[in-house]
Amino acid sequence: MPDLFETFLTSPLGKALAPKVGLPQPVTLRRGRVLPSGGIALASLPGAGLAAEALRLLEIVPVPAVRDDPEARVPDAEGRPKPPRYEERIGALVIDASTLTRIDELEHLRAWLRPAVRGVQPSGRIVLVAPEPESADGVEKRAVFHAVDGLNRSLGKELRHGVTTNLVYVAPGVTAAALTSTLLFLLEGRSAFVDGQSWRVGPADVAATSARALAGLVVVVTGAARGIGARIAEVAARDGAHVVAVDVPQAGEGLAEVANTLRGSALQLDITAPDAAARIAAHVAQTLPGRRLHAIVHNAGITRDKLLANMDESRWAAVLEVNLAAQVRINDALLDAALPGGLADGGRIVGVSSTSGIAGNRGQTNYGASKAGVVGVVRYLAPRLADRGITVNAVAPGFIETDMTAAIPPVSREIFRRTNSLQQGGQPVDVAETIGYFLDPASAGVTGQVIRVCGQNLVGA
Ligand SMILES: NC(=O)c1ccc[n+]([C@@H]2O[C@H](COP(=O)([O-])OP(=O)(O)OC[C@H]3O[C@@H](n4cnc5c(N)ncnc54)[C@H](O)[C@@H]3O)[C@@H](O)[C@H]2O)c1
Repeated sequence: MPDLFETFLTSPLGKALAPKVGLPQPVTLRRGRVLPSGGIALASLPGAGLAAEALRLLEIVPVPAVRDDPEARVPDAEGRPKPPRYEERIGALVIDASTLTRIDELEHLRAWLRPAVRGVQPSGRIVLVAPEPESADGVEKRAVFHAVDGLNRSLGKELRHGVTTNLVYVAPGVTAAALTSTLLFLLEGRSAFVDGQSWRVGPADVAATSARALAGLVVVVTGAARGIGARIAEVAARDGAHVVAVDVPQAGEGLAEVANTLRGSALQLDITAPDAAARIAAHVAQTLPGRRLHAIVHNAGITRDKLLANMDESRWAAVLEVNLAAQVRINDALLDAALPGGLADGGRIVGVSSTSGIAGNRGQTNYGASKAGVVGVVRYLAPRLADRGITVNAVAPGFIETDMTAAIPPVSREIFRRTNSLQQGGQPVDVAETIGYFLDPASAGVTGQVIRVCGQNLVGA
């Protein structure tokens, strides 16, 4: 639904005024399991073949990338040398720099990126692939691997018209198949609100991703009656999962509607109840005999905002209990391999953090603490569950258009909504799609990661 600002911008007066006073003009982003309509250009450093092979597995035939080499420039009418251009707008540029070792090789990235800045169609993509910094065995390598991150984040702030750029760090031993889920997520509209981010893909023995990746798998989503949780349930069901939708009894009506529409099942449950995990597992064991959970998505969350000067113990406790303590207890119980209906080996734990937990937010000391705690859960559990093939990741949403953010006073809301590289709020589905990417069995190499779904928030980015 257009907000007031959007309505103004699309009016004749707004259209005339906006460019003059430098007001942001957000574009409608491409969403869903949809590739860009333009070609996917591929550029690879000498010896780099990972992205080419992953594209082949995805049955995407790349087009050649245009390079800004000094000798390729052609004089314009005034005789000034101009870099070569794409004849037709491309949908994306993928640069495979997985064999990067030296600082001077960054010139290749500049040469490929320059024509792409104006050559990528609206809502198009730049995807950079580089070696993970921890794998560097010398100072220049470590420096240059980090340098790509700075390049990516700065480029994100220059791109316009909904074009995003993201960086995939690949660990030694990553196969092309293990990269497919990440590459497809980034190229498709599913990653619409993920911009200027970098995360790691590790080695995993998997087959290439597919659209119905979750067929036959059971996924539990907490807080599923509305907002982001309802969209997570929808995305998981679209990709084939049987969804167990969990929410408090007071939200029973919305919960039943979500579960019925998706042909999943509803479980009315307050996640802070001491027996919450036991009830989730019992529900799975009874409704789907013999099955274990593929995933638990800890989406249920609350805010009780107050400046710390006015923060009483009940606001403090409620937020830490729902947003953090409950999920620590639930994970602990579901990880018991002997519990019928518990988490299966090869499964997924997904947390929902927030940019407030990363950058901090005035009036949200309780919420910020709880959401930073979610990052702690990810960091602690991911390496410890690797031998069971269980991945642990989180999303950190920025400003997402939901009932939660509709309650923010109008002026602050307008500021939060616009101050990111995409100049608009994200949609609940943007968070859901990123979680869907974590849930994919082909994402087994993605663990211990926190992906911000924030359109590259300008604060604390
Ligand atoms: N909306 C945003 O901009 C934004 C930004 C960052 C993070 N988040 C996080 O995303 C998640 C979803 O947010 P939303 O905007 O959809 O919120 P929402 O308030 O619309 O939905 C939250 C759902 O969680 C349920 N819930 C709350 N307490 C529960 C409990 N004890 N047991 C079971 N269910 C419970 C609620 O009934 C509700 O259905 C939250 O964790 C939130 O902190 C949201």
